[in-house]
Amino acid sequence: ETPPPRAENIILIGLMGSGKSTVGRFVARLLDFRFADTDHMIVNRAGCSIPEIFAKEGEAGFRKRESAVLRELLGSRHHVIATGGGIITQAVNLPLLRHLGYITWLEAGTDLLVRRTSVNNDRPLLRGEEPPRVKLERLIQERGPVYKSMADLRIQTDDLTQEESAYGVAESA
Ligand code: S3P
Repeated sequence: ETPPPRAENIILIGLMGSGKSTVGRFVARLLDFRFADTDHMIVNRAGCSIPEIFAKEGEAGFRKRESAVLRELLGSRHHVIATGGGIITQAVNLPLLRHLGYITWLEAGTDLLVRRTSVNNDRPLLRGEEPPRVKLERLIQERGPVYKSMADLRIQTDDLTQEESAYGVAESA
């Protein structure tokens, strides 16, 4: 049996601060696609911020909401979808991501991730005892192999502007 064709969306995966939202908006403009951002969808549906969701419902509650918005996106076409960095931590999400479309991993080194994520304080996973750099290094170790296994395309963004990364995504999609 032939599997159903993949939906024609572009999914951006990668760690916090890798530029998924910014690059995603550029890519959407380049391809004349719609833009969706799972974190924004979760905040809209919940009516409160990500730190508030973590405080009230724990990370588990947040992860349930994240899977729910992915399922909501299943019918969409011609969307660029920026995902939260932890979307690949839930096994149930992996086939959903695959089905949604072409997966691009935005890879970035620790320095860039630390710099970008220090701009605001809206990421509960970086608010713990552990310094953000140490936490991010650990997440690179833990999640890197999963991003790699999921990615149709990998873009090393350290020496690129976000516009250049977006051209890379748009060209190869
Ligand atoms: C998370 C990443 C965040 C957000 C939440 C958890 C993670 O999204 O979903 O704070 O587990 O890496 P960004 O990758 O857009 O920062």
